[in-house]
Amino acid sequence: MNNIQVFNSIEKFKRFRGKINGTVGFVPTMGALHAGHASLLKLCSTENDFSVLSIYINPTQFNNPTDLEKYPKTFEADLKLAAECGIHAVLLPDYSEIYADQYRYKLSESDFSKILCGAHRPGHFDGVLTIVLKLLNIVKSDRAYFGKKDYQQFKLIENMVDSFFVDTKIIGAETVREESGLAMSSRNMRLSEAALKKAALIYQFLKSEKTALDVKNKLILNGFDVDYVEDISNRRYVAALIEGVRLIDNVEI
Ligand code: PAJ
Repeated sequence: MNNIQVFNSIEKFKRFRGKINGTVGFVPTMGALHAGHASLLKLCSTENDFSVLSIYINPTQFNNPTDLEKYPKTFEADLKLAAECGIHAVLLPDYSEIYADQYRYKLSESDFSKILCGAHRPGHFDGVLTIVLKLLNIVKSDRAYFGKKDYQQFKLIENMVDSFFVDTKIIGAETVREESGLAMSSRNMRLSEAALKKAALIYQFLKSEKTALDVKNKLILNGFDVDYVEDISNRRYVAALIEGVRLIDNVEI
């Protein structure tokens, strides 16, 4: 298990970064780590000499203030898991340093970010792309790891890095699921036992139903509020709410 170094200051991290030899891997997260994150952390530490994790609940990507307030915080457990997964350093930026410009500068994409989750969460992907570009510029890793559970996010980041000539290779990792098939998510912690069981229907219907419309109708019949079920280039995407908690998933078709 690694003895993790924790950095609250970006400046201090950058000085430290300058002295690291070998390849560096990076996993950005918002904490409340679970087995889905752990798979990214392990992949990162097996593929790189030095592994960095960031934990930052990025306010600019939350369009719903309650969602931001209720975001789970499990810092001590996160550190322990990170150490077990071979992480060497953790970056914990604070708003005043990482958004010293008060978010006057932001990055936006005008096409793929406007559909699916982008259509239902205005400004969400501007916040995601902006924070990820900042973090990639700070960490300057050889590789950075993102989950395909958030496939739209993964693709947008991959294309952003190409568009802005960022020298970091973006790696996509497969979705980690509960035994029930439910995609692991920090938001699952907010569900009751009954809703957790129901939430497994999302993946079941994604796999069993012929059309996106069939998935949507079945979810509605089972009490979900459905934001979308859509097929886009060989992939079926879904976002649905249960007990006010918004869950997303996708499968290849
Ligand atoms: P967060 O939701 O904490 O997720 C961090 C990373 O873990 C993302 O790349 C996400 O796709 C991945 N992940 C989450 N659940 C997963 C699962 N079940 N299987 C595989 N990977 C999974 O996504 C974010 O944070 C933020 O938007 C961030 C990129 C950090 C920018 O703020």
